[in-house]
Amino acid sequence: MTRILVLQGPNLDLLGTRQPELYGTETLDEIHASLADHARRLRVEVDFFQSNHEGVLVDRLHRRDFDAVIVNAAAYTHTSIALRDAFLAIATPFVEVHLTDPWQREPFRRVNFLHDLAIETVTGQGSRGYHVALEALAARFGEGDA
Ligand code: DQA
Repeated sequence: MTRILVLQGPNLDLLGTRQPELYGTETLDEIHASLADHARRLRVEVDFFQSNHEGVLVDRLHRRDFDAVIVNAAAYTHTSIALRDAFLAIATPFVEVHLTDPWQREPFRRVNFLHDLAIETVTGQGSRGYHVALEALAARFGEGDA
């Protein structure tokens, strides 16, 4: 079965209460529960990991116990050459997700160290973006090959 890691960056653990006008009112656990349901239906395996620490996210990628990644690197999207290098090092396909559309926000959010490496970037769809990413990866990597 295709194994997908859902990697969540800093401050996403506060979803639900963090700037709800931007990021919505769903908690990260609620988003993950709904993704786990969706993954069961698509017959792919998902694992969830959130950290507020750049190196911990890099270490998680180094475990390489997945076939593809859905990543919302949050603020590290705009700053982290280390995460970019980790994706290059593990050479594993990934879809980038953002709840908001960073290109429509402050200019500093237009810098993105992951975008050109991602097979797809989904922005501005709220938590639905993770489901769009999951469907894209399931379609690409053996949906239904249980
Ligand atoms: C975000 C956008 C980033 O610019 C921001 O730093 C986040 C969340 C999003 O999901 O919209 O923390 O990745």
